[in-house]
Amino acid sequence: MSETARDTLRRLAPTISAGIISADLMNLSAELALVEGAGVGVVHFDVMDGVFCPMMTLGPPIIKAVRTNMLKDVHLMISNPLSKLADYVAAGADILTVHVESEPTHIHRVFQLLGSMTNSNDPARGIVRGVALNPGTPVEAIRPILDDVELVTLLGINPGWGGQKLLPSMAERVAEVRDMIDGRSILICLDGGVTRENISEIAAMGPDLVVAGSAVFDGKNAAENAKTMLKSIKNQH
Ligand code: DX5
Ligand code: ZN
Repeated sequence: MSETARDTLRRLAPTISAGIISADLMNLSAELALVEGAGVGVVHFDVMDGVFCPMMTLGPPIIKAVRTNMLKDVHLMISNPLSKLADYVAAGADILTVHVESEPTHIHRVFQLLGSMTNSNDPARGIVRGVALNPGTPVEAIRPILDDVELVTLLGINPGWGGQKLLPSMAERVAEVRDMIDGRSILICLDGGVTRENISEIAAMGPDLVVAGSAVFDGKNAAENAKTMLKSIKNQH
């Protein structure tokens, strides 16, 4: 029996998810091999549609084309995600994260539907359901859906581009979410604005998962950067 994606995340936590929009996309397989070789177990796909947030990036064909043993962590920053969930599950998402702001009328239905879907890589793996919050959204917005998610992602920046500066107040927001979770088995992720300089400060906030795009893929030392980030998040100085 394979391990569930949720158990894999729990076993790896605290850990990083490597954000590929900052990678050298002409050499994506080599870039992924470098971070996987460095011990990274999760790869982060930022899906932007130019509507929910300004940039357009990638969609199901790219997610499907990537062959990896790492968990595929798919972050949807798109409008009307409810109607598109099946495409991302079919593309191989192990973790599928939807913004609470992107489906204001039926956010609960998103997670109910996801809960009925099967992981297309391996049915026994299950799908980790994540809810994401933009920096300007009060964390209270996710209280009604806490029994239907396994992951809460707090954006450290306004989504759109990699390499932006971490906004203040993340420590407070992480603490607020931890209080709200109140003993439920929900993981906390911080996405955006994480650097090799602030990773230790972020590790002290206690997230389970930290997305690192430009901090890992700098066009020079992806493997070394990934090792540094992993070591810092695990506090092994
Ligand atoms: C928001 C995305 C993030 C971000 C990560 O734009 O969800 O994943 O681009 O990039 P870095 O780690 O460079 O801030
Ligand atoms: Zn992301």
